[in-house]
Amino acid sequence: MNKKYNILVPLLVLFIHLSFSQNNIIPKPVKFKSLDSEFILDENVSFEFNNKNQEVVKQVEMFKDYLVLKGIKLNNSKGNNISSKIYISVLGDFRDKNLGNEGYFIGVTKGKILLTANKTAGIFNGFQTLKQLMIIKPKSDNLVISGCEITDYPRFTWRGLMLDVSRHFFTVDEVKAYLDKMSEYKFNVFHWHLTDDQGWRIEIKSLPKLTEVGAWRVERHGRFGSARPFPEKGEKATYGGFYTQDQIKDVVRYAADRNITIVPEIDMPGHSMAALAAYPDLSVNKNPTFVIPGSRFSEWFEDGTFRMNIENTLNPTDENVYDFIDKVFTEVAQLFPGDYIHMGGDEAYHGYWEKDSEVKKFMKKHKIKDVEELQSYFVKRVEKIISSKGKKMIGWDEILDGGLADDATVMSWQGMEGGIKAAKMKHDVVMSPIKETYLNIRQGDASVEKQVFSYLNLEKTYKFDPVPDNVDPKYILGGQGNLWTEEIASMPFAFYMTYPRAFALAETLWSEKSSKNWDDFIQRTQVHFNCFDKEGVSISKAVFEPIISIYEEDGKIMCELKNSIPNTMIYYTINNTYPVEFGIKYATPFEIPQGDLDLRTQTYKNDKVLGRELHISNEDLMKRIKK
Ligand code: ACM
Repeated sequence: MNKKYNILVPLLVLFIHLSFSQNNIIPKPVKFKSLDSEFILDENVSFEFNNKNQEVVKQVEMFKDYLVLKGIKLNNSKGNNISSKIYISVLGDFRDKNLGNEGYFIGVTKGKILLTANKTAGIFNGFQTLKQLMIIKPKSDNLVISGCEITDYPRFTWRGLMLDVSRHFFTVDEVKAYLDKMSEYKFNVFHWHLTDDQGWRIEIKSLPKLTEVGAWRVERHGRFGSARPFPEKGEKATYGGFYTQDQIKDVVRYAADRNITIVPEIDMPGHSMAALAAYPDLSVNKNPTFVIPGSRFSEWFEDGTFRMNIENTLNPTDENVYDFIDKVFTEVAQLFPGDYIHMGGDEAYHGYWEKDSEVKKFMKKHKIKDVEELQSYFVKRVEKIISSKGKKMIGWDEILDGGLADDATVMSWQGMEGGIKAAKMKHDVVMSPIKETYLNIRQGDASVEKQVFSYLNLEKTYKFDPVPDNVDPKYILGGQGNLWTEEIASMPFAFYMTYPRAFALAETLWSEKSSKNWDDFIQRTQVHFNCFDKEGVSISKAVFEPIISIYEEDGKIMCELKNSIPNTMIYYTINNTYPVEFGIKYATPFEIPQGDLDLRTQTYKNDKVLGRELHISNEDLMKRIKK
């Protein structure tokens, strides 16, 4: 085996050298210059900053806590022992306009680190960069930061991740862990999907049944839909949970300390079965219902339309519904200091509206021509309620249907088209297209990861850019990755699905477009894999595994194996032998022979196994033939 790698050894040495003399920061900074010096982080480090600025005090304390975690017992003395200083200053005067609110400048030399920014958000981001720059120096075991100068600021103001806590409830501590990690990668928006058919997760004091009833369902797991039985007669709804308002305030503060604004989502008029379980009168038919555990209640048709077999939609013609929404958003607006409230608006089924004679009468009276226009009427009323609370409304791109509300911001998820349409109408847009940014979709081969309607690998996520051609970029606030948790029932799995794709999104949303480079990014990603490994957080390394394509050519069934990482090689067998290390080194597409012969693959780099062995039966290979 060794002979295969002889030529790679010098390359490896070069890579290790480069990775120490350059940097492995994700997202890539705007300007980075390496200096020939080094700052040693030990117990003699002291900090100088304006201790009257409470926000800075907090930032410094958080950084000190991090150093303690890294094993540095700061002696906090100002005596002669002080060998090195970290100077932090918030200039607040925008002397360097490029830095904006979130940018920073770092200078690292022997015994001195300068960290300056216009605002404390920049200081926070600068500290995240410093954390990523720390390395344990071989031999000395010192924790050091190599000399450098960095000027860095974001490309977009909206760098979001969404977590769905309705389909599965995550505790406050789990949410905080999610926030911690995203802030390390300079994400600044946490879109908190708080309500859906499967659970209402936010205490609304004026509507207590929302959480007494709406937060609980019967326990079911596994594939969403027909594999999850409906609640049995008399079965108690004991699975779920919700956040009290005190807990919400705590999370909001925690996020703010990490430069994250929370955008709460209350999804309506569809996705409302949990609310209707609590208050069935808010629907058209007012039938008693229950919080659904993910059992199949909808049918999706080839043409993209769908039917809900259980009503999960608010009644847009009922004034009591608007009173309800007003109460909810009054409390939501008080809890969340950010500018935006998300009202959902997606996948609302209009069938129950269409059939109801009262709804029809209402439409006639208000000259509403169809149910799309009725949804638009609803969204416009919601927009007025939200703006009456001093907030801006954002919704999924269906809020364009039937006419977009003035001042609404559109989150484009079905593709980029909704966002393009909204930007052309001079509305702000957040791009979150399903095919490039949905983090619940599997990222590895279907033989080792669960199929959730599609496949999105790291390279494709990295290629995503939120600004389409022919659109004025000033309307594109940024982009977002969305983690829907229908089938993600634990925080470790949530991390596995979020990363490393969130690295790719972080870089797209922060770094300059011209600096993006896959080969460079994937080298840095491998360093971040090691950081997660050290912390015991398991994230997907599917990028190490080949991307398998099966196709027909000249009457032959061919197999192509593609590796995403330079200088890796794939070995395979297609004759039912193993281990794969004694197989064939992949070079070009090969024919799949006839017979009951399975494909096995394994990637190697420098003699080391990377990723998992993929094993695909002949039957599955045949099913994969591209039409
Ligand atoms: C969505 O994925 N339904 C916004």
